[in-house]
Amino acid sequence: MTSSHDDDGTPAGAGVPPLTPVPPVPAIPLNDGTTIPQLGFGVYKIDDSGAQTAVRHALDAGYRMVDTARLYGNETGVGRGVRASGLPRAEVYVTTKVWNDDQGYDATRRAFDASAARLDLGDPDLYLIHWPYPGQDLYVDTWRALVELREERRVRSIGVSNFQPAHLRRLVEETGTRPVLNQVELHPYLQQPELRAFHAAHGIVTQAWSPLGRGSGVLDDPVLVEIAAEHHVSTAQVVLRWHLDLGTVVIPKSATPARIRANIDVFDLTLDEDDHARIAGLDRGERIGPAPDVFGA
Ligand SMILES: NC(=O)c1ccc[n+]([C@@H]2O[C@H](COP(=O)([O-])OP(=O)(O)OC[C@H]3O[C@@H](n4cnc5c(N)ncnc54)[C@H](OP(=O)(O)O)[C@@H]3O)[C@@H](O)[C@H]2O)c1
Repeated sequence: MTSSHDDDGTPAGAGVPPLTPVPPVPAIPLNDGTTIPQLGFGVYKIDDSGAQTAVRHALDAGYRMVDTARLYGNETGVGRGVRASGLPRAEVYVTTKVWNDDQGYDATRRAFDASAARLDLGDPDLYLIHWPYPGQDLYVDTWRALVELREERRVRSIGVSNFQPAHLRRLVEETGTRPVLNQVELHPYLQQPELRAFHAAHGIVTQAWSPLGRGSGVLDDPVLVEIAAEHHVSTAQVVLRWHLDLGTVVIPKSATPARIRANIDVFDLTLDEDDHARIAGLDRGERIGPAPDVFGA
Protein backbone atom coordinates (compact mmCIF):
# COMPACT_ATOMS: atom_id res chain seq x y z
CA MET A 1 0.00 0.00 0.00
CA THR A 2 1.33 3.44 -0.81
CA SER A 3 0.68 6.56 1.20
CA SER A 4 1.06 10.21 0.32
CA HIS A 5 1.90 10.98 3.94
CA ASP A 6 4.90 10.22 6.08
CA ASP A 7 4.88 8.76 9.58
CA ASP A 8 4.35 12.11 11.23
CA GLY A 9 1.36 13.03 9.05
CA THR A 10 3.06 15.59 6.83
CA PRO A 11 2.94 15.19 3.04
CA ALA A 12 5.63 12.84 1.74
CA GLY A 13 8.81 14.69 0.93
CA ALA A 14 7.62 17.86 2.63
CA GLY A 15 10.81 18.00 4.66
CA VAL A 16 13.08 18.32 1.63
CA PRO A 17 14.46 21.84 1.69
CA PRO A 18 14.15 22.85 -1.97
CA LEU A 19 15.72 26.30 -1.72
CA THR A 20 18.03 26.06 1.27
CA PRO A 21 21.55 25.26 0.10
CA VAL A 22 23.14 22.39 2.00
CA PRO A 23 26.12 23.76 3.95
CA PRO A 24 29.51 22.60 2.69
CA VAL A 25 30.16 19.96 5.34
CA PRO A 26 33.44 18.22 4.42
CA ALA A 27 33.51 14.44 4.01
CA ILE A 28 36.21 12.88 6.20
CA PRO A 29 37.89 9.74 4.83
CA LEU A 30 37.75 6.60 6.97
CA ASN A 31 40.28 3.76 6.97
CA ASP A 32 37.85 1.37 5.23
CA GLY A 33 37.62 3.52 2.09
CA THR A 34 34.32 5.22 3.00
CA THR A 35 33.68 8.75 4.26
CA ILE A 36 31.65 10.43 7.02
CA PRO A 37 30.30 14.02 7.15
CA GLN A 38 32.48 16.04 9.52
CA LEU A 39 29.52 17.65 11.28
CA GLY A 40 26.41 15.72 12.30
CA PHE A 41 23.57 15.74 14.79
CA GLY A 42 23.48 14.12 18.26
CA VAL A 43 20.23 13.03 19.87
CA TYR A 44 21.15 12.01 23.43
CA LYS A 45 18.46 12.88 26.01
CA ILE A 46 15.70 13.38 23.44
CA ASP A 47 12.76 10.95 23.52
CA ASP A 48 11.37 9.17 20.48
CA SER A 49 8.89 11.85 19.54
CA GLY A 50 11.32 14.69 20.22
CA ALA A 51 14.00 12.92 18.19
CA GLN A 52 11.69 12.58 15.22
CA THR A 53 11.01 16.34 15.24
CA ALA A 54 14.62 17.34 15.99
CA VAL A 55 16.02 15.09 13.25
CA ARG A 56 13.65 16.65 10.74
CA HIS A 57 14.77 20.13 11.79
CA ALA A 58 18.39 19.04 11.48
CA LEU A 59 17.96 17.47 8.06
CA ASP A 60 16.06 20.54 6.85
CA ALA A 61 18.96 22.68 8.10
CA GLY A 62 21.42 20.63 6.06
CA TYR A 63 22.77 18.03 8.50
CA ARG A 64 23.31 14.70 6.80
CA MET A 65 24.54 12.59 9.72
CA VAL A 66 22.68 11.50 12.88
CA ASP A 67 24.20 9.85 15.95
CA THR A 68 21.96 7.68 18.12
CA ALA A 69 22.38 4.59 20.32
CA ARG A 70 20.28 1.84 21.80
CA LEU A 71 20.81 3.54 25.18
CA TYR A 72 19.10 6.74 24.01
CA GLY A 73 15.78 4.94 23.47
CA ASN A 74 15.05 6.98 20.36
CA GLU A 75 16.15 4.85 17.40
CA THR A 76 12.51 4.56 16.32
CA GLY A 77 12.08 8.35 16.36
CA VAL A 78 15.36 8.88 14.51
CA GLY A 79 14.27 6.46 11.78
CA ARG A 80 10.90 8.19 11.47
CA GLY A 81 12.56 11.60 11.26
CA VAL A 82 14.90 10.44 8.49
CA ARG A 83 12.08 8.81 6.53
CA ALA A 84 9.82 11.83 6.94
CA SER A 85 12.51 14.12 5.52
CA GLY A 86 11.93 12.65 2.08
CA LEU A 87 15.69 12.59 1.54
CA PRO A 88 17.11 9.54 -0.23
CA ARG A 89 18.33 7.07 2.40
CA ALA A 90 21.81 7.10 0.88
CA GLU A 91 22.16 10.83 1.63
CA VAL A 92 21.78 10.46 5.39
CA TYR A 93 24.51 8.82 7.44
CA VAL A 94 23.12 7.02 10.51
CA THR A 95 25.16 5.79 13.47
CA THR A 96 23.97 3.62 16.34
CA LYS A 97 25.75 1.75 19.14
CA VAL A 98 25.69 -1.48 21.09
CA TRP A 99 25.11 -0.87 24.82
CA ASN A 100 27.19 -2.48 27.58
CA ASP A 101 24.65 -5.13 28.58
CA ASP A 102 24.43 -6.36 24.98
CA GLN A 103 28.16 -7.00 24.66
CA GLY A 104 29.49 -10.43 23.68
CA TYR A 105 29.31 -12.06 20.26
CA ASP A 106 25.75 -13.49 20.26
CA ALA A 107 24.13 -10.69 22.24
CA THR A 108 25.70 -8.08 19.98
CA ARG A 109 24.37 -9.78 16.84
CA ARG A 110 20.87 -9.75 18.38
CA ALA A 111 21.26 -6.13 19.52
CA PHE A 112 22.29 -5.07 16.02
CA ASP A 113 19.21 -6.70 14.48
CA ALA A 114 16.97 -5.02 17.07
CA SER A 115 18.54 -1.58 16.51
CA ALA A 116 18.26 -1.94 12.73
CA ALA A 117 14.60 -2.95 13.11
CA ARG A 118 13.84 0.06 15.32
CA LEU A 119 15.58 2.43 12.92
CA ASP A 120 13.75 0.79 10.00
CA LEU A 121 16.03 2.46 7.46
CA GLY A 122 17.68 -0.59 6.00
CA ASP A 123 21.01 -1.14 7.69
CA PRO A 124 22.84 1.58 9.65
CA ASP A 125 25.95 3.19 8.20
CA LEU A 126 28.09 2.98 11.31
CA TYR A 127 27.85 0.67 14.33
CA LEU A 128 29.91 1.44 17.44
CA ILE A 129 30.76 -0.34 20.69
CA HIS A 130 29.45 2.30 23.12
CA TRP A 131 31.97 1.69 25.96
CA PRO A 132 34.80 -0.80 26.47
CA TYR A 133 33.32 -1.67 29.90
CA PRO A 134 36.52 -3.55 30.67
CA GLY A 135 35.39 -5.44 33.79
CA GLN A 136 33.19 -7.80 31.81
CA ASP A 137 36.00 -8.29 29.29
CA LEU A 138 33.68 -8.79 26.32
CA TYR A 139 34.69 -5.97 24.02
CA VAL A 140 36.93 -8.14 21.82
CA ASP A 141 34.12 -10.69 21.28
CA THR A 142 31.77 -7.79 20.63
CA TRP A 143 34.23 -6.43 18.07
CA ARG A 144 34.34 -9.83 16.34
CA ALA A 145 30.57 -9.60 15.87
CA LEU A 146 30.94 -6.11 14.36
CA VAL A 147 33.70 -7.30 12.01
CA GLU A 148 31.43 -10.11 10.83
CA LEU A 149 28.47 -7.75 10.36
CA ARG A 150 30.63 -5.60 8.14
CA GLU A 151 31.86 -8.62 6.16
CA GLU A 152 28.21 -9.59 5.63
CA ARG A 153 27.56 -6.01 4.41
CA ARG A 154 24.94 -5.45 7.10
CA VAL A 155 26.74 -2.24 8.05
CA ARG A 156 29.03 0.02 6.07
CA SER A 157 31.54 0.85 8.79
CA ILE A 158 32.37 -0.21 12.33
CA GLY A 159 33.99 1.69 15.16
CA VAL A 160 34.16 2.23 18.89
CA SER A 161 33.42 4.84 21.51
CA ASN A 162 35.21 5.74 24.73
CA PHE A 163 38.15 3.44 23.97
CA GLN A 164 41.57 4.18 25.39
CA PRO A 165 44.82 3.35 23.50
CA ALA A 166 45.20 0.04 25.40
CA HIS A 167 41.70 -1.07 24.34
CA LEU A 168 42.36 -0.06 20.73
CA ARG A 169 45.69 -1.89 20.65
CA ARG A 170 44.07 -5.04 21.98
CA LEU A 171 41.34 -5.00 19.32
CA VAL A 172 43.89 -4.73 16.56
CA GLU A 173 46.23 -7.34 18.06
CA GLU A 174 43.45 -9.90 18.58
CA THR A 175 41.36 -9.33 15.44
CA GLY A 176 43.59 -7.50 12.95
CA THR A 177 40.81 -4.97 12.28
CA ARG A 178 41.01 -1.29 13.18
CA PRO A 179 37.92 0.75 14.10
CA VAL A 180 37.25 3.54 11.58
CA LEU A 181 36.76 6.00 14.42
CA ASN A 182 36.67 6.40 18.18
CA GLN A 183 33.88 8.62 19.53
CA VAL A 184 35.15 10.21 22.75
CA GLU A 185 34.33 13.07 25.07
CA LEU A 186 36.08 16.11 23.64
CA HIS A 187 35.53 19.86 24.15
CA PRO A 188 37.64 22.87 25.16
CA TYR A 189 37.85 21.69 28.80
CA LEU A 190 38.89 18.13 27.76
CA GLN A 191 41.01 18.43 24.62
CA GLN A 192 42.55 14.93 24.69
CA PRO A 193 45.76 15.80 22.78
CA GLU A 194 47.49 12.45 23.47
CA LEU A 195 44.48 10.38 22.42
CA ARG A 196 44.04 12.47 19.26
CA ALA A 197 47.71 11.95 18.41
CA PHE A 198 47.33 8.19 18.96
CA HIS A 199 44.32 8.12 16.64
CA ALA A 200 46.16 10.12 13.98
CA ALA A 201 49.17 7.78 14.16
CA HIS A 202 46.89 4.75 13.65
CA GLY A 203 44.52 6.08 10.98
CA ILE A 204 41.54 6.27 13.34
CA VAL A 205 39.29 9.32 13.09
CA THR A 206 38.48 11.20 16.31
CA GLN A 207 34.79 11.91 16.80
CA ALA A 208 33.85 14.33 19.59
CA TRP A 209 30.89 13.71 21.90
CA SER A 210 29.55 16.53 24.07
CA PRO A 211 31.46 18.83 21.68
CA LEU A 212 29.84 21.86 23.35
CA GLY A 213 30.48 20.56 26.84
CA ARG A 214 26.78 19.61 27.02
CA GLY A 215 25.76 23.24 27.44
CA SER A 216 27.70 23.40 30.73
CA GLY A 217 30.14 26.16 31.70
CA VAL A 218 32.14 25.70 28.49
CA LEU A 219 29.79 27.95 26.53
CA ASP A 220 30.07 30.67 29.21
CA ASP A 221 33.85 30.57 29.35
CA PRO A 222 35.11 34.19 29.27
CA VAL A 223 37.82 33.44 26.69
CA LEU A 224 35.31 31.81 24.35
CA VAL A 225 32.82 34.63 24.96
CA GLU A 226 35.53 37.13 24.02
CA ILE A 227 36.52 35.27 20.84
CA ALA A 228 32.86 34.93 19.87
CA ALA A 229 32.29 38.68 20.34
CA GLU A 230 35.34 39.46 18.17
CA HIS A 231 33.92 37.33 15.34
CA HIS A 232 30.26 38.35 15.91
CA VAL A 233 29.19 34.72 16.36
CA SER A 234 28.04 32.57 19.30
CA THR A 235 30.40 30.69 21.63
CA ALA A 236 28.89 27.43 20.34
CA GLN A 237 29.89 28.41 16.81
CA VAL A 238 33.46 29.20 17.95
CA VAL A 239 33.70 25.82 19.67
CA LEU A 240 32.34 23.92 16.66
CA ARG A 241 34.70 25.73 14.27
CA TRP A 242 37.60 24.87 16.62
CA HIS A 243 36.65 21.18 16.45
CA LEU A 244 36.48 21.25 12.66
CA ASP A 245 39.90 22.93 12.50
CA LEU A 246 41.33 20.13 14.70
CA GLY A 247 40.01 17.63 12.14
CA THR A 248 37.58 15.98 14.54
CA VAL A 249 34.10 14.87 13.52
CA VAL A 250 31.46 16.63 15.68
CA ILE A 251 27.90 15.74 16.64
CA PRO A 252 26.37 18.68 18.55
CA LYS A 253 22.92 18.02 20.01
CA SER A 254 20.13 20.55 20.29
CA ALA A 255 16.39 20.30 20.57
CA THR A 256 16.06 24.02 19.77
CA PRO A 257 15.46 24.77 16.07
CA ALA A 258 17.39 28.08 16.05
CA ARG A 259 20.40 26.41 17.70
CA ILE A 260 20.17 23.43 15.35
CA ARG A 261 20.47 25.86 12.43
CA ALA A 262 23.19 28.00 14.01
CA ASN A 263 25.33 24.99 14.93
CA ILE A 264 25.80 24.03 11.28
CA ASP A 265 26.31 27.63 10.17
CA VAL A 266 30.02 27.61 10.94
CA PHE A 267 31.61 27.29 7.54
CA ASP A 268 32.10 31.03 6.93
CA LEU A 269 33.87 31.46 10.26
CA THR A 270 37.68 31.54 10.33
CA LEU A 271 39.61 31.29 13.58
CA ASP A 272 43.18 32.55 13.53
CA GLU A 273 46.30 31.22 15.26
CA ASP A 274 45.78 33.48 18.24
CA ASP A 275 42.20 32.21 18.70
CA HIS A 276 43.51 28.63 18.56
CA ALA A 277 46.26 29.36 21.07
CA ARG A 278 43.76 30.89 23.50
CA ILE A 279 41.38 27.93 23.17
CA ALA A 280 44.27 25.45 23.61
CA GLY A 281 44.96 27.17 26.93
CA LEU A 282 41.50 26.25 28.24
CA ASP A 283 42.19 22.51 28.55
CA ARG A 284 41.61 21.34 32.15
CA GLY A 285 41.33 17.60 31.55
CA GLU A 286 37.81 17.97 32.98
CA ARG A 287 35.30 15.23 32.13
CA ILE A 288 31.52 15.41 32.07
CA GLY A 289 31.13 11.65 31.66
CA PRO A 290 32.86 8.74 33.39
CA ALA A 291 36.47 7.80 32.72
CA PRO A 292 36.51 4.87 30.27
CA ASP A 293 39.06 2.89 32.32
CA VAL A 294 36.89 3.16 35.42
CA PHE A 295 33.35 2.82 34.02
CA GLY A 296 32.44 -0.87 34.12
CA ALA A 297 35.88 -1.85 35.45
N1 LIG B 1 29.45 7.84 22.95
C1 LIG B 1 29.11 8.36 24.11
O1 LIG B 1 29.39 7.82 25.19
C2 LIG B 1 28.34 9.65 24.12
C3 LIG B 1 28.12 10.33 25.32
C4 LIG B 1 27.42 11.52 25.28
C5 LIG B 1 26.97 12.03 24.07
N2 LIG B 1 27.16 11.33 22.91
C6 LIG B 1 26.68 11.84 21.61
O2 LIG B 1 27.17 13.16 21.41
C7 LIG B 1 26.07 14.04 21.17
C8 LIG B 1 26.38 15.42 21.67
O3 LIG B 1 26.72 15.40 23.04
P1 LIG B 1 25.75 15.97 24.19
O4 LIG B 1 24.36 15.89 23.73
O5 LIG B 1 26.14 15.27 25.43
O6 LIG B 1 26.22 17.47 24.38
P2 LIG B 1 26.52 18.75 23.45
O7 LIG B 1 26.12 18.51 22.06
O8 LIG B 1 27.89 19.18 23.76
O9 LIG B 1 25.55 19.83 24.13
C9 LIG B 1 24.16 19.70 24.09
C10 LIG B 1 23.60 20.77 25.03
O10 LIG B 1 24.00 22.06 24.60
C11 LIG B 1 22.86 22.86 24.32
N3 LIG B 1 23.15 23.60 23.09
C12 LIG B 1 23.23 23.10 21.84
N4 LIG B 1 23.53 24.07 20.97
C13 LIG B 1 23.63 25.21 21.68
C14 LIG B 1 23.90 26.55 21.31
N5 LIG B 1 24.12 26.90 20.05
N6 LIG B 1 23.92 27.48 22.31
C15 LIG B 1 23.70 27.13 23.60
N7 LIG B 1 23.43 25.87 24.00
C16 LIG B 1 23.41 24.91 23.04
C17 LIG B 1 21.70 21.91 24.17
O11 LIG B 1 20.50 22.52 24.60
P3 LIG B 1 19.09 22.38 23.81
O12 LIG B 1 18.95 20.97 23.34
O13 LIG B 1 18.11 22.75 24.87
O14 LIG B 1 19.13 23.36 22.68
C18 LIG B 1 22.09 20.77 25.10
O15 LIG B 1 21.75 21.10 26.43
C19 LIG B 1 24.92 13.35 21.93
O16 LIG B 1 23.66 13.87 21.60
C20 LIG B 1 25.16 11.92 21.52
O17 LIG B 1 24.70 11.70 20.20
C21 LIG B 1 27.85 10.15 22.93
